Amino acid sequence: MDNLIREEIFHYAKEWVLEAGNIIRNTIDDPLEIGTKSNPNDLVTTMDKNTEKFIVEKIKTTFPDHLLLSEEGFGDEIDSLDGTVWIIDPIDGTMNFVQQKRNFAISVGIYQDGVGEIGLIYNVMEDELYTALRGEGAFKGEKKLSPLKEGMILEESVIGLNHLWLCENRLVDEKVMQQLVKTARGTRTYGSAALEFAYVAEGILEGYLTMGLSPWDIAAGMIIVNEVGGVTTNIDGDPINMVGRNAVFVGHPDVHNRIIKDFIAKGRK
Ligand code: IPD
Ligand code: CA
Ligand code: CA
Repeated sequence: MDNLIREEIFHYAKEWVLEAGNIIRNTIDDPLEIGTKSNPNDLVTTMDKNTEKFIVEKIKTTFPDHLLLSEEGFGDEIDSLDGTVWIIDPIDGTMNFVQQKRNFAISVGIYQDGVGEIGLIYNVMEDELYTALRGEGAFKGEKKLSPLKEGMILEESVIGLNHLWLCENRLVDEKVMQQLVKTARGTRTYGSAALEFAYVAEGILEGYLTMGLSPWDIAAGMIIVNEVGGVTTNIDGDPINMVGRNAVFVGHPDVHNRIIKDFIAKGRK
């Protein structure tokens, strides 16, 4: 992607994400219409839909030839990342948004022919914006994030994972995952994949491991994490399918390697 064009797209993306976040903050206490999608805990609100609609309309007006892959149905039906594709989660962490009114993010990743060029993750209530342009480093606000620390070991790492890994599940023997939890220094569950990616990039989580994620959960995060030397794969260490669902593992490269080799591979079903 041409640098000047990329700067221009980034400028607009940032403006729209901050504007959408501002609307959410200003209406955070308004009554919500809450619906469910694939199961009773898979929530969607009018805010998810309105936020997506707001961003999609801006993109379609300003960049009519760009395509959109987004969660709530206002995007395009696409099955490849050919062209310029915006991958959008208007609210990542809807359960947190509904139950806690915090710990959720707007996530926007922009890809050119499958290559991640621009990533933005906006922690709305904290007013913290994580960004990256491919090859130019990652930022939290104006502050450039440091490359991930060298020589990190699992025993000193904090890993983001959902407690469902510790229950019987279809992917990995839960006993092995219990061993992982005991070996790491600590574990955390934040409930927003986008924020968990941002925390890996910031170096406050050494890894984040999660079951069924969609492209919009991870598109921005992958670009941001990549800029500080982090690795994103599926849980077998293979590349992510950007137009499908994946069990995702993002992390510090040393810790990522060790967890796959000593834990996941041993317990994989
Ligand atoms: C969800 C969040 C959550 C993850 C789920 C996602 P949503 O996204 O990222 O942390 O565990 O798998 O679907 O539905 O709140 O946008
Ligand atoms: Ca999501
Ligand atoms: Ca969402």
